[in-house]
Amino acid sequence: MIKFQDFSFQYREGVAPVLRDITLAIPDGCFCGITGAAGSGKSTLTYAINGIIPHCYPGDFYGNVTVEGLDTVEASLTDLSALVGSVCQDIDSQMVSTVVEDEILYGLENFGVPKEEIPGRVHGALEAMGIVELLSRPIESLSGGQKQKVALASIIALQPKVLVLDEPTAELDPASSEAVFRLLARYARENGTTVVVVEQKIALLSEYADLLVIVDDGRIRFADAPEAVLAHSDELLALGVNCPRSTTLVNRLKAAGLYSGPAVRNVAAAVDVCREVLARAGA
Ligand SMILES: Nc1ncnc2c1ncn2[C@@H]1O[C@H](COP(=O)(O)OP(=O)(O)O)[C@@H](O)[C@H]1O
Ligand SMILES: [Mg+2]
Repeated sequence: MIKFQDFSFQYREGVAPVLRDITLAIPDGCFCGITGAAGSGKSTLTYAINGIIPHCYPGDFYGNVTVEGLDTVEASLTDLSALVGSVCQDIDSQMVSTVVEDEILYGLENFGVPKEEIPGRVHGALEAMGIVELLSRPIESLSGGQKQKVALASIIALQPKVLVLDEPTAELDPASSEAVFRLLARYARENGTTVVVVEQKIALLSEYADLLVIVDDGRIRFADAPEAVLAHSDELLALGVNCPRSTTLVNRLKAAGLYSGPAVRNVAAAVDVCREVLARAGA
């Protein structure tokens, strides 16, 4: 469980808090998606989980944040990093090796994973990300999507209980973005890993998330199942969050009194709703 209790934070150089009155619980094994306008505080929220604040970026930290009962202010970064694996926004800056295999080995060796476990961990992580064939490839020869999968594999190899990913698909085309989310969700489900992912593509996020969090100007405006959040497409638009067109269409049908079910996350569900509405209109 990740728990934020009355949490506020102001960077030391800042003139005002960038996060205010955050209370949020993310259950074990949850796939939690965070979205919101640029500068709303999404990355800072993830820094409170992996300890980057206040350990690397100091400031005024109010309330508390715990991961599996570990207080992220009191715990050391070493203890936190054994629990929380992070992939930052700029993966190139995170890569330390020139070859894929070395990149995965680097973390395993640093964390003191027993030698006999290492080959299995490397293979398992590459397999989870569907990139076994990239083992010996130079990192500079990889596409953006492949690099993102390598970055994820190097963290997954460490088997953290919590994965924190900040805009993992920002540089990727729609097909690679979908692939990264699909692999990630399957891995998390099979291993009971909690995932916290910041993502601009709300359609993608809504498809995979159990819990969808909308951050606006340092506050949490919504934290609920995707269908419950997507029902507020007009309010979301005012916060700079553009819902999928299929969601907006179904919400309009609902506002017009033609449909009374939950909001939809994707085109297929919207098509079902439209069929139902048309069948009723024809009856
Ligand atoms: N290291 C830092 N020092 C001071 N201010 C920061 C720092 N990092 C981010 N900020 C400020 O905090 C606010 C929220 O930033 P951030 O969490 O990166 O938002 P998002 O990820 O939603 O774009 C912004 O106004 C940003 O300028
Ligand atoms: Mg950010």
